[in-house]
Amino acid sequence: RSKIRIALDGPAAAGKSTIAKVLAEELGFIYIDTGAMYRTLTYKAIQLKIDVENEKELSNLLLNTLIELIPGAKGQRVFLDGQEVTEKIRSNEVTSQVSMVAKHKTVRDEMVKRQQKLVEDGGIVMDGRDIGTHVIPDAEIKVFMLASVEERARRRFEDHKKQGIKSSLETLQKEIEERDFLDSTRAASPLQKAEDAVELDTTSMNIEEVVKTILHLVDTRG
Ligand code: C5P
Repeated sequence: RSKIRIALDGPAAAGKSTIAKVLAEELGFIYIDTGAMYRTLTYKAIQLKIDVENEKELSNLLLNTLIELIPGAKGQRVFLDGQEVTEKIRSNEVTSQVSMVAKHKTVRDEMVKRQQKLVEDGGIVMDGRDIGTHVIPDAEIKVFMLASVEERARRRFEDHKKQGIKSSLETLQKEIEERDFLDSTRAASPLQKAEDAVELDTTSMNIEEVVKTILHLVDTRG
């Protein structure tokens, strides 16, 4: 269990961040949520009324934007140009537009460059859509997490209920389906299982079982 790199990819609400957090804790690794980086840029673009279709403006904006991911006691905290935006980037408004921002090649190139810097020292669990395919193509462990869309919507619904956020199962399922469609059909590094990733369908698995399965991969790798 030296300072390896674990790449966790998969569609929206597949439980990647939940699993990544537990794994990082168990292994004493750092957890990096790359979705938060795309969400933060999207949040800033919305504030500045920048069109999410305008690739040039968005990539210029990113070059002038500081995004910091800071590990905290309750998980990763996110800072945009020095201001905390941890909660703000989870809003419906950001969620519904982030895939439009994330589809642009020049935006992705800069994000990937920043993400690769973050993993230089190893000892990380990184989750996203293109980690195993583009960010860390030589990661020691690659997992592609799946679950049925119904199950993913149900889990998100339960999360929201616990946090006191009102939502409907139907709307959540539609939002997840739309985002998956955009993320897997874009030209620039679409959501895709890396050839050498282990596919894990978690539809009927609980958190403990998923974590155990991945820890087993870590212990028996090579
Ligand atoms: O992981 P999360 O659902 O927070 O990601 C939000 C969005 O950011 C995704 O739907 C996708 O459009 C984009 N994303 C991406 N590549 C990543 C991580 C996230 O395109 N590595």
